[in-house]
Amino acid sequence: MSTAANLNYMDGGTAAQLRGDPITGDRYTSTDFMQREWDHMWTRIWHLGGRLAEMPEPGDYTMHDFRHESVIMIRQEDGSVRAFYNTCRHRGTRLVWNESGSGNGFTCPYHGWQWGMDGVLQYAQDPDDFEKGCPVGELSLSELRCETWGGFAWWNMDPDAPALLDYLDPIPTLFAHRGMGDMIRVFWRTFHVDTNWKFASDNFNESYHLPSVHPQLRANIDEDYANTVFEMYPNGHNRMIEMGQPSMRADVPNAVESPWDMMLEKWDLDPKDFEGRARDGRIAMQKQMRKLAKEKGYLHLDGFTDTELTDPHHHTLFPNVTMTAGHEGVFVFRTEPHLTDPNKCTFDCFWLVNKVHGQDTIMTLVGERPFEECEHEHIDYGSGVDIPDMAGSFLIQDLSVAVGQQRGLASQGYTDAHLTGQESRVRRFHEVLNDYLEGRR
Ligand code: FES
Ligand SMILES: [Fe+2]
Repeated sequence: MSTAANLNYMDGGTAAQLRGDPITGDRYTSTDFMQREWDHMWTRIWHLGGRLAEMPEPGDYTMHDFRHESVIMIRQEDGSVRAFYNTCRHRGTRLVWNESGSGNGFTCPYHGWQWGMDGVLQYAQDPDDFEKGCPVGELSLSELRCETWGGFAWWNMDPDAPALLDYLDPIPTLFAHRGMGDMIRVFWRTFHVDTNWKFASDNFNESYHLPSVHPQLRANIDEDYANTVFEMYPNGHNRMIEMGQPSMRADVPNAVESPWDMMLEKWDLDPKDFEGRARDGRIAMQKQMRKLAKEKGYLHLDGFTDTELTDPHHHTLFPNVTMTAGHEGVFVFRTEPHLTDPNKCTFDCFWLVNKVHGQDTIMTLVGERPFEECEHEHIDYGSGVDIPDMAGSFLIQDLSVAVGQQRGLASQGYTDAHLTGQESRVRRFHEVLNDYLEGRR
């Protein structure tokens, strides 16, 4: 398969571009390393924050806790979104505990100071009791950089950071035709997991684990590395494109298995016609999707290439976001460190979809969901717990191996990863992280 010709990517995303920095266990378990990540990386990168659909009107806000920091993103009268630290400048009290809300600004629960939606102080009790003059109209909440892309507000603590679109390059170019801003978040679960946040960057930068961890995916994803496109981009983001067809591995028969049969049927193809040649279904499906998309209510596929119609396009955005795009929408994962413990993290899973006209619901990991912005659910996964409506799903499979890996990474018996070529983006991720920690970025 060929790669996009006009992109600035590093040739094929192979080990040839790597220094070979070791991936040592302390990176996952040490509080010193966690602090270095904070000092040199988290305080400088763009953070994926609130969904713009949650704050359509002036005064609507979302709040995002990240370790000991908390950030409020709030829609302004002019339609822009600004971000402020969630801390009163009188004596530091946290202003907001709600994850989202609406109003003319924020009233501090301690002494009642009122901050406008533009962050400027509007009211302070006893205005004549300030030695140097009343701060009303003068003092503002501390502001952070805030820019928007993909239907999200993103924030950055570094005033000298590059613009968001430059930082994300080339992801916005790759997603330009997907209409992410118009998508609906129909599923949002946050898993609290006993593993370091980097499990996700590692795990989602390779498909080597698919046959062993997700054997069910062989029916509709060709995870064979020989047929997969791997790319690494200069800013530290990566892409992996797998063919949407039954696996080409030698031990996988060219037979129609579920859910491949349902996917063929969805596009009015008869699974019986593909017995013994299931992989031909991919090309047939692309043709059918071109022909039937509008009739079946998929009005957003005009700008898609043939491979984008059928093949999962999987992107890892440095450092902690992944976006896996298909013809129905985009899975977004965001993984964040725990407040104090490097052995814990939160793993957010969003399923963003385009409306399918004539259809009231869409199938998700937990069954049918309406085309509506969903409620946020929290799951305390710890080191493993039954989640009945997600039993057997690929996400739970990933989490279950992640907690076991965290235990093993803490052992003296582990010294460095011993990677296959197709896992080059795993080491690449750690090298970009080291670039931040060691002053090269
Ligand atoms: S700390 Fe906020 S008004 Fe005093
Ligand atoms: Fe996985």
